[in-house]
Amino acid sequence: MSSTLLYSYQPYSNKPGHCVIESQEGDLYLGFRIESASFPTTISAVQAGVVQCLMHGQQPTVIYYANPALSGLENWINTLSLKPEQIPEQKLQEKAAEIQKQNQQWLHSDTLDSSKKTTITSIKPIPLENVGLLELSKQLHSLGNENSESRPVFSKSQMEQLKHALVNVCKLAVCPESNFPVGALLWTNLGVFPGVNVEFQNWSLGLCAERTALINALSYGANEFFGIFVHAIDGDFSTPCGSCRQILSEHMLFSKLFCLNKDHTWSEYFIHDLLPHPFYTDSLAKF
Ligand code: THU
Repeated sequence: MSSTLLYSYQPYSNKPGHCVIESQEGDLYLGFRIESASFPTTISAVQAGVVQCLMHGQQPTVIYYANPALSGLENWINTLSLKPEQIPEQKLQEKAAEIQKQNQQWLHSDTLDSSKKTTITSIKPIPLENVGLLELSKQLHSLGNENSESRPVFSKSQMEQLKHALVNVCKLAVCPESNFPVGALLWTNLGVFPGVNVEFQNWSLGLCAERTALINALSYGANEFFGIFVHAIDGDFSTPCGSCRQILSEHMLFSKLFCLNKDHTWSEYFIHDLLPHPFYTDSLAKF
């Protein structure tokens, strides 16, 4: 199995979709399919790649793909005027491997070079030192390994750092349609990964911060999700939408959600309390 397939999540079709998006700036973003038991909630490979590119503050320009039947391919090409580059599977795998290698380097570099960063690309070295969370991310990393099943307890200072980071992450939201920035921090076995809402003129193509955080975390190889922190700057009291609850319930049903309210107080929930009877059936899991 190629390493790309590791990041693709396709328990229902066993058909891994993947592509590579190149930004105007020449950076590459891996797009991979993330299936949902509720099929329409599935994130297509192209959507994942495009959204990652945009949340890093870059403009998607070229799409490399091997399979022309990739879900939504033509629509995305037309919507964003992407230059389509069909390449052999082997070449696509090589590009994907390059991105994965680069992501792993970022993940394991203790001293990230801040000179390389502009405002939003600084979100790319995901372990969060740009929002002052690198240290906390490491602490949470070890905490997560110890008691992922139990109620996480954070110190006051950790919650303060998370608060600060969430407010900063919201500034990276790509929300020209709603002007309603949302930020999320997903606490995983590899540290904490940010996500923001990304919007398009066609509203149905956009994704919420909770889901872009998941894409971000998966693209670095995270596979355990201990908790998620969410903030909507203008939301008086915002909890995740139904689609996000479905996705979160599939990946972290027994984990906690921490919502930072507008008045900067916290509300905490277990995901299974937010979506008490999620759609799931063994009949679908064929692979
Ligand atoms: N949004 C999120 O990012 N998370 C949610 O749970 C609810 C809504 C975003 C999506 C869209 O960009 C904007 O908020 C308005 O719906």
